[in-house]
Amino acid sequence: MNWLAFGATACGSVVLTEILRDSYHALCHHIPALERWHNYHHAAYRRDLSMVSLAAFRRSQLYHDMTESIILLVALLSIALLTGALGVWVGVVYAGLFVAGATRRYVWAVTDTDYNHQPGPLQEPPAAWWVNRTYHWRHHFDNVHAYYSGVFPLVDKVLGTGLSLRGKKVGVTGAGGALGQALCAELQRAGAQVTALTTHPEHFTAPSQMRVVSWHIGQEAELLPLLATLDILVINHGVNVYGRRDFAAIDTALLVNTLSVLKLMELFMHTVTGPEAKATKELWINTSEAEVSPAFSPLYELSKRLIGHLVTLKRLDNVCVMRKLILGPFKSKLNPYGVMSPQWVAKGIVALAKRDFRNIIITVNPLTYILFPLKELAVSLYYRCFSRGERPY
Ligand SMILES: NC(=O)c1ccc[n+]([C@@H]2O[C@H](COP(=O)([O-])OP(=O)(O)OC[C@H]3O[C@@H](n4cnc5c(N)ncnc54)[C@H](OP(=O)(O)O)[C@@H]3O)[C@@H](O)[C@H]2O)c1
Repeated sequence: MNWLAFGATACGSVVLTEILRDSYHALCHHIPALERWHNYHHAAYRRDLSMVSLAAFRRSQLYHDMTESIILLVALLSIALLTGALGVWVGVVYAGLFVAGATRRYVWAVTDTDYNHQPGPLQEPPAAWWVNRTYHWRHHFDNVHAYYSGVFPLVDKVLGTGLSLRGKKVGVTGAGGALGQALCAELQRAGAQVTALTTHPEHFTAPSQMRVVSWHIGQEAELLPLLATLDILVINHGVNVYGRRDFAAIDTALLVNTLSVLKLMELFMHTVTGPEAKATKELWINTSEAEVSPAFSPLYELSKRLIGHLVTLKRLDNVCVMRKLILGPFKSKLNPYGVMSPQWVAKGIVALAKRDFRNIIITVNPLTYILFPLKELAVSLYYRCFSRGERPY
């Protein structure tokens, strides 16, 4: 039991060290006196994370890494002495190792650096559960006022800095619909440059500074040049054929809710090229909670479940970040009985995306919060075992 308590306190103290480090990091970007010193760290790296010069690297070790790790060491020492908990000394040793590493790099000009600052092209998208190189690259070169976390993305989840939308070029399909309009407005409020993709531009009154692009089902390929310029594509268009089961209804549901979504996903994934695209390109797909709950419209459920499964399958290729929007009933033309407002749902989507949620669940049905993650995990594991990727992108 004592060993258990020791183990838990030891792990807790390591996590606490990282939380303190990330909180200090966030402060460095808000308090000018700290920022001046922290900027030596930013000045030490080029866009491919190679070092600007040995002198710049050593300066960054002195003014940033050593300062930060000494503050952490003092904080952990104080906690260990105040609480008397033996496990916290593991945190003290952990923080001490960073002081030693930074001192070694500064005094002996050793140029080994941590995994977040290894030079070279970005090979994979930002990881969801821990901070990888691509995740951290965004802090240096996408927005220095976001992506503060260094190992566990907890602080970014709390602060809403896990995804910066500032200046991001975002395209939204189904922009003329209830959620489409609300989402375009919310994304614009978050600082994104929004392109509204609509099949009825004549009905779309765009707010100022919003670009409107007309498109049609079956002509997805014509959007390729536009998709190449976008950072984020939100595939939001959808149709509900309600209780119908005739062939025309099957055709419409599959064409609109499944096949056109799949085509747009494929086209967009082909635009994830170049050294930095892995860091910034994202797909958001509105699949609906009909993936796991009844929508009292069999063809709607079938088409949404199919695209939901296909997204799960394509996620395994790890081409870019793919967020699923798992939404409950909100009021719109598609669902006049919805209980939530599209504006509220749009606010929730953006708030959770900024916290880097990959499955954005917004619903009044508590079962979805339990059933969806279980289903997603099980299906993803099954697909991982029985499919293989050819990485054509
Ligand atoms: N309302 C709900 O309760 C609910 C719940 C979960 C998920 N969702 C999903 O949320 C998304 C937005 O739906 P909404 O509720 O906001 O409905 P909506 O107001 O009816 O908007 C749907 C939009 O999709 C586009 N669309 C419809 N038919 C199309 C077609 N044949 N080809 C191309 N685009 C077409 C249209 O946008 P343009 O005219 O601009 O092209 C339309 O305005 C849909 O994917 C829906 O399945 C809705």
